[in-house]
Amino acid sequence: MKKIVFITGVAGFIGSNLAKQLLKTEPRMIVVGLDNMNAYYNVRIKEARLAELEKYPNFTFIKGNLADKTLISQIFEEYKPQIVVNLGAQAGVRYSITNPDAYIESNMLGFYNILEACRHSYDNGAPGVQHLVYASSSSVYGTNKKVPYSTDDKVDNPVSLYAATKKSNELMAHAYAKLYNIPCTGLRFFTVYGPAGRPDMAYFGFTNKLLKGETIQIFNYGNCKRDFTYIDDIVEGIARVMKKPPEKKNGEDGLPIPPYALYNIGNNHSENLYLCGNEGLEHPANHQWCLP
Ligand SMILES: NC(=O)c1ccc[n+]([C@@H]2O[C@H](COP(=O)([O-])OP(=O)(O)OC[C@H]3O[C@@H](n4cnc5c(N)ncnc54)[C@H](O)[C@@H]3O)[C@@H](O)[C@H]2O)c1
Repeated sequence: MKKIVFITGVAGFIGSNLAKQLLKTEPRMIVVGLDNMNAYYNVRIKEARLAELEKYPNFTFIKGNLADKTLISQIFEEYKPQIVVNLGAQAGVRYSITNPDAYIESNMLGFYNILEACRHSYDNGAPGVQHLVYASSSSVYGTNKKVPYSTDDKVDNPVSLYAATKKSNELMAHAYAKLYNIPCTGLRFFTVYGPAGRPDMAYFGFTNKLLKGETIQIFNYGNCKRDFTYIDDIVEGIARVMKKPPEKKNGEDGLPIPPYALYNIGNNHSENLYLCGNEGLEHPANHQWCLP
């Protein structure tokens, strides 16, 4: 039996790596990928990732916008995906200050369209979507102090619009899981890094500047801790989760319990920027670092 997997954000860092791994290791999987190839960062990186995927006969690419409801319903009607992995989103915390519209379009409207398409995949008794997996983010933890973070922690105080959209996605998915019995799993990722990663992320920006002998600007005296996750570990996590949808079952009242799960995918060791930069020279006046 062929399994059809629909991956959004397939030209993105995580989406392209997941698609490649599935195409390489799961011969019975057909991967249908969507991406709008937006210019948030250098599109040539996205094109290069796509070129790798297009070598596989089981891969189909559709260029389009998640916010286009007609297109999303058409894709679901035509391909009837059993597994949907929503990785298409406007990422980045800083950019949400200058470009909030992009977050509402891709992360709110786009995700709503995916949920609606999943809901209607069961119309007329069709088997429909067996599992919707979607990306959330560690940014939902905001300024929480308690570590390690747990999905049981309260995350009602987002400190960026990006985080607010990710938390909203979790709430929307829960409502759709409850109302339409759609098995949904949300994954909170923690700073994913690796080859051909996202150039907007600090680790690339820092490396570029240090290689050019320029200084990097750090905040809060470099006292900034982060969990980093290698791309292959994220891909393995998603690939494992995809195959295990939360069970559909009824509660004591006879009504369905929402088949809904939420996981952190990271490790339990944070890196401190201050320690990373300890090799460099400090300029206390402006909190900048450079390599000698
Ligand atoms: N990389 C990380 O460290 C990290 C951490 C936490 C959460 N996440 C989440 O994981 C997911 C994937 O992240 P990534 O690092 O691969 O980012 P990415 O920017 O490399 O990939 C996202 C892809 O989605 C596409 N896209 C954006 N809006 C779209 C739209 N409206 N329609 C169609 N395609 C659209 C982009 O063109 C891009 O190729 C995102 O939801 C992101 O928020 C990533």
